[in-house]
Amino acid sequence: MTKKYKKLFDLSGKVAIVTGSSRGIGASIAEALAEFGASVVLSSRSKEAVDEVANKIQENGYDAMACECHVGEEDHLKNLIDTTLKKYDKIDILVNNAGINPVFDRLENADEKLFNKIMDINVKAAFKLSNMAMKHMKNNKSGSIINISSVEGQKPDKGLGVYSISKAAISMLTKSQAKEWGKYGIRSNAICPGLIKTKLSSALWQNEEMLELWLKDLPIRKAAEPEEISGIAVYLASEASSYTTGETFNVDGGYMIN
Ligand SMILES: NC(=O)c1ccc[n+]([C@@H]2O[C@H](COP(=O)([O-])OP(=O)(O)OC[C@H]3O[C@@H](n4cnc5c(N)ncnc54)[C@H](OP(=O)(O)O)[C@@H]3O)[C@@H](O)[C@H]2O)c1
Repeated sequence: MTKKYKKLFDLSGKVAIVTGSSRGIGASIAEALAEFGASVVLSSRSKEAVDEVANKIQENGYDAMACECHVGEEDHLKNLIDTTLKKYDKIDILVNNAGINPVFDRLENADEKLFNKIMDINVKAAFKLSNMAMKHMKNNKSGSIINISSVEGQKPDKGLGVYSISKAAISMLTKSQAKEWGKYGIRSNAICPGLIKTKLSSALWQNEEMLELWLKDLPIRKAAEPEEISGIAVYLASEASSYTTGETFNVDGGYMIN
């Protein structure tokens, strides 16, 4: 029997950039894309940390390289694109994953500096890097952009106001990219994780009371591991999702049902 459908997920020959891939969801997505055959360029502010993940991927027999990239720095973004093109000559997949949530506080306590910092990293960086990658995807008449948004962008929690605003913006960026760039063969989709056990969300899942509150009405009564986001990322990166664009996918244990 021919394996017509398995091939749909094959990423052999594809080149992927994943921002914020030194740990957590980004590292797991990078590992998964590599395991499905892609050459993956990992990046974060710490070259040492991304080197470690890239080395692990290589030791497992897959192709990866690391590049230092603070997504708030324009020259770092340009260097990430240039480094990728120098080594692989194209960009097929871009995962805008790097994200921050430096505070849990009420909206009225957030000053402009904090607002700008969250917007710069969570929204502006994805906007800029996508625009840079898009030119090369357009030339190849093909590309998949995956933006990591959040359920917080649809249903805000107290204390996460500015973060929620940034994630709502990323979901709309996704729809705009899909609408404008579909004609160039570029698809853009967003993943909205629920509570995933990473450093970013540690204040939630490492605090028993907070965790209980979160899990109380959650249909799947647990916080997820980063690996539980990787399957949808492989789908969105691959030909399996060739007719999917402008969509946001909740991977949240049923959080958005409530
Ligand atoms: N965990 C959750 O429950 C959850 C839920 C919904 C959405 N998300 C989203 O998922 C994405 C990944 O977060 P995570 O949960 O995996 O958090 P994490 O484990 O803290 O990882 C964050 C990643 O982003 C990188 N990063 C932070 N600031 C950066 C910057 N200025 N430039 C480049 N890289 C930067 C970090 O690397 P360095 O420190 O080495 O730079 C790290 O690799 C984020 O967009 C987050 O908003 C997470």
